[in-house]
Amino acid sequence: MEQIIQDAVEYIRTLFEGNADGHGFDHSCRVWRNAMMIAETEPDCDPEITALAALLHDADDYKLFATENNANARKFLKEHGVPEETADRICEAVNSVSFSKNKGKRPGTAEGRVVQDADRLDALGAVGIARTFAFGGSHGRKPESSIEHFYEKLLLLKDMMNTGKGRELAEARHAYMEDFLREWEAEISAAEDR
Ligand code: ADP
Ligand code: NI
Repeated sequence: MEQIIQDAVEYIRTLFEGNADGHGFDHSCRVWRNAMMIAETEPDCDPEITALAALLHDADDYKLFATENNANARKFLKEHGVPEETADRICEAVNSVSFSKNKGKRPGTAEGRVVQDADRLDALGAVGIARTFAFGGSHGRKPESSIEHFYEKLLLLKDMMNTGKGRELAEARHAYMEDFLREWEAEISAAEDR
């Protein structure tokens, strides 16, 4: 593996260390792996920019860090001699990933579209189910109210994917979540019928 990618993994390991549930680091590594898998099918996508944008995509997340202008990501890139122009491209991709911050606009670069798909994939499937209840629990929500998040957001993601590969992977994870929700409803209503 390229040295800078390895260093980025170590950088975010340290960055997310204080984060009790550890999801920042594990999530970012999965987004990186997903992004590399999708990038193989996207010829316009620069693999190094994609990898660094994926690894650093939550390094300045406002929920965890009070940084401005991608300060955490830029600090790492500068220390590793990444030219400013390349750092700008990486940060542009990172900043286009968040759906709410961009009012639903599709990322303007191939790397941004790939990392956004990779981030969304990690909200789906078995990992997505686990993350939903972990997030809800840590915000004091009962499992019964976290279920709403599937209908409000997670089940909508499959039709919002940017790439063909992303959509294909999302569809399998979507089907798995639908199975889970069917089983959930069946168990809940069986308990209510008593
Ligand atoms: P990311 O780490 O990709 O930026 P978020 O911070 O938006 O994602 O969310 C982290 C995880 O928590 C995701 O799996 C998401 O689906 C879940 N989540 C977000 N909002 C809620 C909610 N209101 N209830 C339950 N889970 C949620
Ligand atoms: Ni993320």
